[in-house]
Amino acid sequence: MRYGYFDDQRREYVITRPNTPLPWINYLGSEAYFGLISNTAGGYSFYRDARLRRLTRYRYNNVPLDCGGHYIYLRDGDTGEFWSPSWQPTRHELEGYICRHGLGYTIIGSTYKGIEAQTRYFVPLGDSLEIWQLTLTNRREEPANLSVFSSVEFCLWDAQGDATNFQRNLSTGEVEIEDGVIYHKTEYRERRNHFAFFACSEELAGFDTQRSAFLGPYRGWDNPAAVERGRSFNSEAHGWAPMGSHHVRVALEPGETRQVIFLLGYHENPRDQKFDPPGSQRINKRTVKPVIARYLARDNVDAAFEALRAYWDGLLSIFQVRTLDIHTNRMVNIWNLYQCMVNFNLSRSASYFESGIGRGMGFRDSNQDLLGFVHMVPERARERILDLAATQLETGGAYHQYQPLTKWGNDEVGSNFNDDPLWLILSVAAYLKETGDGSILNEPVVYENRPGTEKPLYEHLQRSLRYTLDRLGAHGLPLIGRADWNDCLNLNTFSDTPGESFQTTTNKEGKVAESVFIAGMFVLAAKELAAIAQERGLADEAQRYHDEAAEMEAAVLEHGWDGEWFLRAYDDFGRKVGSHECDEGQIFIEPQGFCILAGIGLEDGRAEQALAAVKEQLATPHGIILQQPAYSRYYLHLGEISSYPPGYKENAGIFCHTNPWIMIAEARVGHGDQAHNYYTCINPSAREEISEVHRCEPYVYAQMIAGRDAPTHGEAKNSWLTGTAAWNYVAITQWILGIRPTYAGLQIAPVIPSDWPGFKATRVFRGVTYHITAERAGPGNTVSLTVDGKPVEGDVVPLPPAGQREVTVQVILT
Ligand code: GLC
Ligand code: GLC
Repeated sequence: MRYGYFDDQRREYVITRPNTPLPWINYLGSEAYFGLISNTAGGYSFYRDARLRRLTRYRYNNVPLDCGGHYIYLRDGDTGEFWSPSWQPTRHELEGYICRHGLGYTIIGSTYKGIEAQTRYFVPLGDSLEIWQLTLTNRREEPANLSVFSSVEFCLWDAQGDATNFQRNLSTGEVEIEDGVIYHKTEYRERRNHFAFFACSEELAGFDTQRSAFLGPYRGWDNPAAVERGRSFNSEAHGWAPMGSHHVRVALEPGETRQVIFLLGYHENPRDQKFDPPGSQRINKRTVKPVIARYLARDNVDAAFEALRAYWDGLLSIFQVRTLDIHTNRMVNIWNLYQCMVNFNLSRSASYFESGIGRGMGFRDSNQDLLGFVHMVPERARERILDLAATQLETGGAYHQYQPLTKWGNDEVGSNFNDDPLWLILSVAAYLKETGDGSILNEPVVYENRPGTEKPLYEHLQRSLRYTLDRLGAHGLPLIGRADWNDCLNLNTFSDTPGESFQTTTNKEGKVAESVFIAGMFVLAAKELAAIAQERGLADEAQRYHDEAAEMEAAVLEHGWDGEWFLRAYDDFGRKVGSHECDEGQIFIEPQGFCILAGIGLEDGRAEQALAAVKEQLATPHGIILQQPAYSRYYLHLGEISSYPPGYKENAGIFCHTNPWIMIAEARVGHGDQAHNYYTCINPSAREEISEVHRCEPYVYAQMIAGRDAPTHGEAKNSWLTGTAAWNYVAITQWILGIRPTYAGLQIAPVIPSDWPGFKATRVFRGVTYHITAERAGPGNTVSLTVDGKPVEGDVVPLPPAGQREVTVQVILT
């Protein structure tokens, strides 16, 4: 069952009923100001950091669902009836409800008793504000006397404090109202130099800034007193809960259309010019007024929207593909890339499943997000790499997370996730292959954010690799630390105290438990660093990394192979995890994926064997399960993984992030059909028609789909912020379509399904546009290349001479 449809032409997902199984959301904002917006206008906004600069309030896990938003109310002055054109919060039955989620914007429209209302929400490029562009049309036969009420509830900046410290909160709220603009300035009198503003293009009939006045006692957002009576209270917040609401009267003749624009924004003043007049406590508004004036003009708003469309045209045009599979095309050309951008911006901080408080930018997460992002805006990728590296410790280890606003490592979480440092090598390698910009390796970067500790980025990478080698266990495999990629496989935790964090509690010394996953990852990272060293002309060093990779590979083959698949780990007792000898958890997906990605077992048949085991034991029509059999009870020595009921999350859920590793592995052994079949199983577009089962948005990947041990097998959870986005993008574009950046040029080595006649693609790589046509002339994956009409040996298109901007590539597969 569907709740809408894809409009590929306009690059939108169109939702045709408001009561989707879960709120289906979108993101506004590209760089600094962000908002989450659901299909019924729920959500909230923040500047850079969802925890430390939260502009508006949102109530997670509330009833009714999806509470708090970018809400507009309409009221009919003749009948006194009022409703929300976005359905929530009043939930009136609407005609022609439609929500169009596009790239960086959302349009929600409906008609109620002949009044058509459509609101376009977006954040203009380069400015820190969101625009609500409301268009009202009177479709009645007679004139309509309408009132429009806007509403936002201000959050008192620090979302953590806002949700907990009521002692203080309920007394600090302050606003100013000037020329119809509502300014939220809580804490501005003291250490803040920023404030929020909420402006309207029309003359106001009234306003409210105190929530208790606007709503009235014991009422909710579905029934505000001001809207019901048709008149604001002109309330001024002093403490309690500051909010913003404008009241505008709009009289419409039959057929008449009017626009009302609302702006919600964030602004900073220079610290020494906070007040006007100086010495007073009033906000200096001279710096913000031009911004407000600019966007209250309709032409400027339309132009800003066009600029946003053009921005996405540009980003999407970097890679476009035409295959016979519509789901592949749609995800590669539009949605997967878009999700990669959102993940790059927000890591795992703010979604409808991440509170915006708990996690900032994950070290492991953001490095992986870069894999799907580097080609989009390489300059931003460069900056991110340097920020991440600056949170690395001198040991080579890394802070597991950092706060986006301060860019400082998060002490509460700390470090010792032993896979973390290696991800930096993978993201830097991806950046270098994409851009050829070796200068990044010479950039001085601090350790632990401490000035004076600067070393070239290259040295950070060297230490990353060293970090693993300094921590090997009895089998020559890497010690796991608190956890590796699987945050929930906690082999040193042994926690029997309720509520203790599985990731930060360590009751064991950590000298025994080893990870085969990190071993595979090490082999891959060592090979990548060898290639980087080679590019820098350091042949001896490159050889050393190759030797280290070979040694680790030997350890994996000797101690990390279970007979038919790769083992997962050794626990603190030195016993196997992920072995046929185990009662439960006999086979795990991660080492199968990562060892093969690293090239282990490609020559001796073990890769094929492991993949056969994956197919037999882990594959389902809804995707590949993380491990089997599921843990049926809590195991002290395994940690959080066994804390989840069977079939959910890391305990035998379909943890989508890992699936592309298997797709890549299948591609590496030449199985195009299998690789693409796995791709399709979790492709959200391909799952659209089972939306009542999947329940999350059909246009983005979710972190998890419930596994076969769960009663809700097939149900997705944790949509949007997940490494699945970047890895699927890599799997489909680089390994199945086979278009891979390399140091020497663009490699084209497709491993596509046998029934595909070929495909067409354009790829912009280092400033050159490659027009690629692949044709199948036989069943295999052997590539013959013709570049600009001339045959070329191998499968790498050499970089064209300087000045040439277009290259035509013909690929014949036999
Ligand atoms: C979440 C985390 C990620 C981790 C994964 C598996 O997606 O953000 O860091 O690797 O779960 O536990
Ligand atoms: C990952 C896991 C989640 C775990 C969390 C801890 O996101 O998916 O289950 O609780 O990491 O950080």
